[in-house]
Amino acid sequence: MYRTHSCGELRASDINKEVALSGWVQKTRDKGFMIWVDLRDRYGITQLIFDEKRTPVAVVEKAKTLGREYVIHIKGSVIERESKNSNIPTGTIEILVTELQVLNEALVPPFTIEDQTDGGEDIRMKYRYLDIRRNPVKNNLLFRHQVGMKVRNYLSEEGFIEIETPYLIKSTPEGARDFVVPSRMNEGQFYALPQSPQTFKQLLMVGGMDKYFQIVKCFRDEDLRADRQPEFTQIDCEMAFVEQEDILTIFEGLTRHLIKDIKGIAIHDFPRMTYDQAIKIYGNDKPDIRFGMKFGELNKVAQHKDFKVFNDAELVVGIAVPGGASYTRKEIDKLIDWVKRPQVGALGMVYVKCNEDGSFKSSVDKFYDQDDLSQWAEITGANAGDLICVLSGQTHKVRGQLSALRMEMGERLGLRKPEEFAPLWVVDFPLLEWDEDTERYHAMHHPFTSPKPGDIPLLNSRPGDVRANAYDLVLNGNEIGGGSIRIHDKETQKLMFDHLGFTPEEAKAQFGFLLDAFQYGAPPHGGIAFGFDRLVAILGGQETIRDFIAFPKNNSGRDVMIDAPATIDTEQLKELNIKLDL
Ligand code: AMO
Repeated sequence: MYRTHSCGELRASDINKEVALSGWVQKTRDKGFMIWVDLRDRYGITQLIFDEKRTPVAVVEKAKTLGREYVIHIKGSVIERESKNSNIPTGTIEILVTELQVLNEALVPPFTIEDQTDGGEDIRMKYRYLDIRRNPVKNNLLFRHQVGMKVRNYLSEEGFIEIETPYLIKSTPEGARDFVVPSRMNEGQFYALPQSPQTFKQLLMVGGMDKYFQIVKCFRDEDLRADRQPEFTQIDCEMAFVEQEDILTIFEGLTRHLIKDIKGIAIHDFPRMTYDQAIKIYGNDKPDIRFGMKFGELNKVAQHKDFKVFNDAELVVGIAVPGGASYTRKEIDKLIDWVKRPQVGALGMVYVKCNEDGSFKSSVDKFYDQDDLSQWAEITGANAGDLICVLSGQTHKVRGQLSALRMEMGERLGLRKPEEFAPLWVVDFPLLEWDEDTERYHAMHHPFTSPKPGDIPLLNSRPGDVRANAYDLVLNGNEIGGGSIRIHDKETQKLMFDHLGFTPEEAKAQFGFLLDAFQYGAPPHGGIAFGFDRLVAILGGQETIRDFIAFPKNNSGRDVMIDAPATIDTEQLKELNIKLDL
């Protein structure tokens, strides 16, 4: 038997027990007559003692040869530790070893297997299996498992059943590029890996499986960021005979349950905000509402003076940064440089210091008097001691820039507290989005999203104003989930395809199977998908999903451990009828 207990299990109550443990050598301390070894496994660390007086000589000799990360098996008895370690749960005992077997030797690891390691990101990714031995990574994976179990239990209890859908499919239009897989048996043809199981879950509704869910891998060939991986996991759900309200209620319930169960925090408010409100007040559709700094639009009070920059702008908008009036000139200049970075893209920033004595000092005092500035303060909600930061320009761009500044200031001022959770629904998304490159409207969510029935007449005259029965779940400034009520009748679907510029032939070629299915009694249906990696990361108090994925890809989409993607050999290419012209 390799082990009677784990390395995190034994306590003072186990003293005198004969035990067997197995694990990795964390570290050894050799005092000549006495050797201590920290033995580690997934569950913790237990101290072993090899004592010349009480341990067989051969065993002590063998212990002297142990190196870091050797895999060993020992037998011995639990004894009270002389110098106790209150930092670890096993710190009151140690094992007086009587038998030692080296199960496997190990090379010296390229970085220390400690909570604070000396290994950089790249080397840890290359040796991810060693990184997983470290507590921070290991604990994230355990945490992910826990969240997954709670999601499965909750949804099962709500009557959802988990059904697997295929990975080798035909392209689903979710907005990103597909990863494709050549078919050997069908020359010149390709499968696509699903960007989501969207069409399949809708077909399951036609199939009568009225509450479906799946914790499922999705694949998207898109540019990577901290919250994006090319393969990621969704909690994908669909329900039949539901309206938007039913879906919001169930998934609000799931979110509340997870935050309560995992973090012990009861969510009281679960606000809803329309897309238009979110954009106007926070400058983006995934607002972090843990803190204020709401946008104040200043066109009315800042235009028609002599300040040309504002007069020429489509939007003049500001936020009040708490306590910012005390910033030095140098600090403010740095902030201005920050908004002018290409990643943010503002041309400049106007500022107003709201002094403690009630007066104002601005960078545009030449154009605006104290009364003007006091109106700015009122509109942006600035108090004495705050700094009003104002940007101007094209509405769409300037909102994005000010939103970036708001998030940055929230971060710098410690207002984005990882242990605080502020979810909300963003609803009434536009149905269509104008694409500058193709000069066409695209489905903002996907082509199966139903328009709000009252807005359908606008499809011809003002397509950009048509709202969808679509919603996003936002948590702490991150888009955690998105979904919609679907179109379930052929006529509306046809109308949508027409507006998206699909000819009937193109629509049939791409989605014929779905349109066909809709002729056989499709129930009204809708659903949502949560980004599981994002949800886990945020519940874990972080925003980088890579840290919660066992084997993630790096920023160039590479798995540096197995060295993928890689070329394949000529034989394989030939079999697939692929000719490379490099
Ligand atoms: P959507 O495209 O909004 O909706 O995706 C749902 C959620 O998945 C997460 N997500 C990602 N997470 C990590 N890496 C990525 N590359 C990535 N892309 C998306 C986000 C997002 O909110 N089929 C629809 C759902 C539906 O309509 O029911 C869909 O996939 O958290």
